[in-house]
This record gives sequence, C-alpha cells and structure tokens, in this order.
Amino acid sequence: MVKEKPKQESISPLTGKQYTIPETIDDKAGIESFCDLHPGKKVVVVQGLGFVGSVMSLVVANALTEEYAVIGIDLPTPFSYWKIQSINEGAFPVIADDPKIEQFYQKARKKKNLYATCDPHAYSKADIVIVDINLDVKKQSNNNGHLEDYSVDLSPFKKAITAIGTSCKPDVLVLVETTVPPGTSQKIVRPILEECLKERGLATDKLKVGHSYERVMPGPKYVDSIQNFYRVYAGTDETSADATEKFLRTVISTDEYPLTRLGNTQATEMAKVLENSYRAMNIAFMVEWSRFAEEAGVNIYEVVNAIRMRPTHKNLMLPGLGVGGYCLTKDPLLASWARMNLFGSEEPLEQSETGVHINDQMPVFAFQYLQSQYTSSLNGKKVLLLGVSYLNDVGDTRFTPVQGIYEQLIGAGCEVTLHDPHVMYWEEKRTRVNNNLDELLKQPYDLVIVTTGHKDYRNNPVLINKLADQQPGFIYDTIGILTDDEINKLKSKHIVKVIGRGDL
Ligand SMILES: NC(=O)c1ccc[n+]([C@@H]2O[C@H](COP(=O)([O-])OP(=O)(O)OC[C@H]3O[C@@H](n4cnc5c(N)ncnc54)[C@H](O)[C@@H]3O)[C@@H](O)[C@H]2O)c1
Repeated sequence: MVKEKPKQESISPLTGKQYTIPETIDDKAGIESFCDLHPGKKVVVVQGLGFVGSVMSLVVANALTEEYAVIGIDLPTPFSYWKIQSINEGAFPVIADDPKIEQFYQKARKKKNLYATCDPHAYSKADIVIVDINLDVKKQSNNNGHLEDYSVDLSPFKKAITAIGTSCKPDVLVLVETTVPPGTSQKIVRPILEECLKERGLATDKLKVGHSYERVMPGPKYVDSIQNFYRVYAGTDETSADATEKFLRTVISTDEYPLTRLGNTQATEMAKVLENSYRAMNIAFMVEWSRFAEEAGVNIYEVVNAIRMRPTHKNLMLPGLGVGGYCLTKDPLLASWARMNLFGSEEPLEQSETGVHINDQMPVFAFQYLQSQYTSSLNGKKVLLLGVSYLNDVGDTRFTPVQGIYEQLIGAGCEVTLHDPHVMYWEEKRTRVNNNLDELLKQPYDLVIVTTGHKDYRNNPVLINKLADQQPGFIYDTIGILTDDEINKLKSKHIVKVIGRGDL
C-alpha cells in the first residue's frame, strides 16, 4: 500500500483508535500475495464490511464443505476505513454477545484465509462476489419525527456494481445480499455488469447473478443466524440460481436448514422487504396501543401477555422506544418506492409507509410522555441515558431511537450523560460514550432513563441498589426492562415511569 499525505481520520467506535486514511489506495501487492498463499482455492470477495458483510466474511472463511480465500473490501471513508485496518490488525470490527465471532475470526487468522482491503483490484481475483453494501433511503422528517418525504438514490449502489464489472472475471457469480428494491438484480445489477463486460470486450454468457437475502440477527446468535438458518434464494436465470445454490450449500447447514428457491429474483427481493415490513408494522401497531394504555391507566405488558396465550397471537409485540437499526426503518419504504418507480404503480404501499411513519415518531412520543409526567422544568436537569445502541447487547447505533429522545432532552436544556457497554464512540452524534457504569453512578442525576435493553441493565440487583441509593429523582424505563419488584424498590425513593404502563 502506498501511503500518501494524510487527509482524513477514521475512528473505531469500538476501541476509539484513530486511523489516518491514505490519499491513494494501491494494495495490489497485498492482494496478490494473499492470493498466492492460497493456490487452487476459490476466491470470494465480500463487498461491504459492515454488520452483515464482516460476519458473512467470517462464515465464508469458515465454510463447511469448501476452503475459500476470502477478501473483504470496503471504502476508504472515515466511517469505514477502520474496519479494514481492524480486520488485518487482529481486532474484529463487530462486537456482539456471540463467542462464535471471535472463534471464527481466530480460526480464519490461523488459516490466513481472510484479508481486508479497499483496493478494487480484489474484484479481478474473485470467483464469487457477495454484495453486502448499504442501500439507503433518505428521509425528510420534521422536528417531531414526522416523515414528510423520502427518496431512494440508487447511484452509490450502481457505482459499487460498476466497480465489480470494471474488473471482474466474465464467469464470476455476483451474489446480491443487500436489501434492494424488488426488481434490482434483474433490472439494474445484471445490465450494469453485462455492459461493463461488453465494454471490456468480454462475453456475457457465463456471467451469473443471484440474490439471497440475509436474515442476520446481531446478538448472541449472530453467526448462527447466517450459518444455521433458513435461506431463500433465486437467480436472474437458471444457471445463476444453480450457482447460487451450489455456493450456499458450502457455507450454510442446508441439511438442517433447507434452502428455499423462488422463481426469480423479484420474488426473493420482495420476500425480504415484505418480511421486514411485517415486523415494522407489528411494532407500529403496538406504539399506538401503548399510548392508549398510558392514557387509560392500563399495564399493556399484562394485557399483551394475556393475549399471547392464544397461539395465533404469540408474536404480538411489546412497546418500546421505537424502531431502530438499519433495516426496519427503511425496508418498507424501499418496497413502496420500488412499486412506484420500478413497476409503474401510482399507489404506494400505504400501510407499510404509515408503519415507518409511526415508528419514527415514537422517541418523540416517549419524550412527550416524560414531559407530561415530569412536573417541573427539564431545563438544566442532569440526565443519565442507559444505552445508546438500537438493540440490546450489540454496538450498532445506526438509526437508534435513542437519538430522538437524546436530541429532545438536549433541546429542552438537559445535561445528558451517555452510558453504553458496547459503544465507546457514537459515530452519528460524533460524541464519546462512557462504558463505566459504576463510575457514572457515583454522580447524582435528576433523571435516569433506560433506553436500550442491554443485559447489564436487566435483572441486575447491583444496578438497582445503586439507583436506589441515588438522590430522589425520576427513573424512566422506555423499554419495559424493570420488573415489578425492581419498580417497587425504586418507587420507595423515586418516581418511576415505564412506557405503556398507565398503572404506575
Ligand atoms: N444489519 C442487519 O441486521 C441486516 C440484516 C439483514 C440484511 N441487512 C442488509 O444488508 C445490507 C448491509 O447492511 P449492514 O448492516 O451490513 O450495513 P453497514 O452500513 O453496516 O455496512 C455496509 C458497508 O458497505 C460499505 N460500502 C458501501 N459502498 C461500498 C462500495 N462501493 N464498496 C465497498 N464497500 C462499500 C460501507 O462502507 C459499509 O461498511 C443492507 O442492505 C441491509 O439492509 C442488514
């Protein structure tokens, strides 16, 4: 790699370590010597080393029935460059409560079959390219979280596919795992790749394009949610579908978790966004009902648990601070956008769009509920937020609903302290986060707000005792983590409120 004048920095949110991004990227030598270490092995390039791609790289590097040489590629941007460096340095860029992540990473390091780079030269070595990059929806919302408009800009995604086409082999299998608007593999990915091959004077008849979406669940079963779970797949033609199946069989335990082949990639792409829209709408449904329960003096948790006794209603959700993370906040919109922009309908998927709209407003509702219960002014109050990431026991802050309530608190003049056991640096807010809860609880707070369901906050008598020892204040549980016993203990000194519990 040729190092040029330092330009930008990239900070690891996990360790706080700072990396300087070189101005030009030339890692040809690194890529070639990595491939030389693995003669005869198929090379799999994973495009995008985020929450999906990095762990998918591990699963492929530890494939069940084939030995692959795996190259992960990402962009030399402040947001992502640290991931490349971390992988090559010995610190995996994802922390989760799954011991398999470290085990798989250490095995790959021992076998030396995982390498990371930002040089697109990697595509020229690939037998298979797995596309795991982001495809974003841009939302325009007002201060109350009210969704006013949204747009899907496919140009970064098209650029990424063009980068593959510019140097890939003509018989490569490009497997799209990114969540895309239905129609994308057939109408966008394949034509771009064919065009690139033609421009290079190469034949297009051996090119294979498949789609198989991830159901990865960051958390204690992170690796298993890829390797030991059901998969849906399709190809843009039969040869592509067959090649996709052949590859998936080498990395997924398909005897135990049989694959489902659908007729075409539109169907698999639709399956993904429908699956997530269903979940987002289920949550939105409960957002409204939890607000009703607060108004009506009802404990919605009791109500939901009573209803869940019916087998048909087992997946009724519980209330919370809202929906976060990368997927549920955008996938219903991707689907609706595709319906209108790729298939010519004049109608959006109205219910799915409304679900996103309601979920986006939940942090504001949570703040308004706090204001209605906290009788004095919030201005100048010391607030401790427990949890910054959007999901329990992972360090992912993308679209975390905590951001909404954090901004409202800051806007109201509060002095906010952040704690999260898994986040040291909140990239989106460009702010450091404290990991030392014991230290933080030595300070007095006017309000302590539980915002993420990390296990450090769940059934933790030490935490409850320390909270009970705090000066009298206000404890606000936005995710229903506190048990009745804990609430009763805290209530002897503090005011305790829980979202969806009008009975308190
Ligand atoms: N996170 C999840 O739980 C989850 C689950 C299922 C599916 N998905 C889908 O998987 C896809 C990836 O999600 P993620 O959570 O890993 O996103 P992410 O933002 O964590 O990672 C995406 C990565 O792709 C990189 N990237 C973007 N353009 C690139 C390019 N041209 N070349 C190389 N790298 C590039 C980004 O820098 C980033 O590191 C999305 O479509 C998402 O909807 C995510």
